[in-house]
Amino acid sequence: MIVVTGVSGALGGSILTGLRAVEGMAVIGASSSGDGEAVRHADFDRPRTLEEAFTGAKVLVFVSAGYAEDDVVLARHGAVVGAAAGAGVEHVIYTSLAGSSERLTIALAHRWTEARLAGAPFDVTVLRNGLYAEIAASLALAGLPGAVDGGVFAAPLGAGRVSVVARVDLAVVAVRVAAEAWHDVVAGGERRHAGRTYELEGLSAVGGHDLAAIIAEALGRPVTYAAVPPGAARPALAGMEPYQAGHSISMYANAVAGLLEAKRSDLPAFVESPRPVRDLIAAAVNQAAVGLSAEAAAG
Ligand SMILES: NC(=O)c1ccc[n+]([C@@H]2O[C@H](COP(=O)([O-])OP(=O)(O)OC[C@H]3O[C@@H](n4cnc5c(N)ncnc54)[C@H](OP(=O)(O)O)[C@@H]3O)[C@@H](O)[C@H]2O)c1
Repeated sequence: MIVVTGVSGALGGSILTGLRAVEGMAVIGASSSGDGEAVRHADFDRPRTLEEAFTGAKVLVFVSAGYAEDDVVLARHGAVVGAAAGAGVEHVIYTSLAGSSERLTIALAHRWTEARLAGAPFDVTVLRNGLYAEIAASLALAGLPGAVDGGVFAAPLGAGRVSVVARVDLAVVAVRVAAEAWHDVVAGGERRHAGRTYELEGLSAVGGHDLAAIIAEALGRPVTYAAVPPGAARPALAGMEPYQAGHSISMYANAVAGLLEAKRSDLPAFVESPRPVRDLIAAAVNQAAVGLSAEAAAG
């Protein structure tokens, strides 16, 4: 059996759906809100829930639970590693963070978790996920009102470009790796994904000019990009959790430094036709632009 954590989330939910569609696959989801029946109850903040949630799993798809301060995430992830060992899981597949994001503040918890997993008594595959296309889309959406009002898209990206990937493509990789890992465990032969780390970087990078062009297309008029310093973006982050604001500034600084553009990716080895991220961003911008036009028309 395969257990997938975080199934109430977008990534874990997609992985669970994908594995359920694989013929002959026994898979069950686990979530902090699981009822213990259809979805097992696995709350990383309550370690005693975990070993039971992982019981019977030959393969565990461990979806990171990163929305918290680093010390909280480390405690969560350490508990998962300990419980997987206690439950006798044979192969853990962990959704980590891609190499181009190495200097982001969010990388700390991922690399710590990878090190913990490396010392654990089971096989491990690390899926180093690229940054989601939603991150670029949310930057575009944040600058959309300014583009509508003044024809200028302002963002704290400098001249940097960010490699992004469709989350559903990351789920496709996780499904394939988990299914193959399960088959290998059951067959008792060579385990093709054991000890492997896959860099699942996005194949396209987007920067301020690219986002301005997407917005211009949605609005049907020219929009220019204006780079603003990351510090100037701080007031807009005031409503966020403090750790989230810090992570956002770290991302802007990395983009400005030109560090978020990937040089290579293992994605093509798993996904024949990755979703074009420009289309995903454009869809989000188009939808928001329609909403803004309706608001303006209503006065
Ligand atoms: N690569 C990227 O660009 C990127 C961006 C943002 C986040 N991430 C990471 O990728 C993960 C999955 O992304 P997503 O898009 O699926 O996020 P999401 O839809 O917001 O889901 C959040 C995830 O956090 C889990 N979680 C929160 N508190 C938990 C707890 N106490 N115990 C167990 N799980 C807990 C949730 O699992 P439950 O169902 O158990 O609540 C859920 O899987 C995130 O949690 C984060 O670590 C990556």
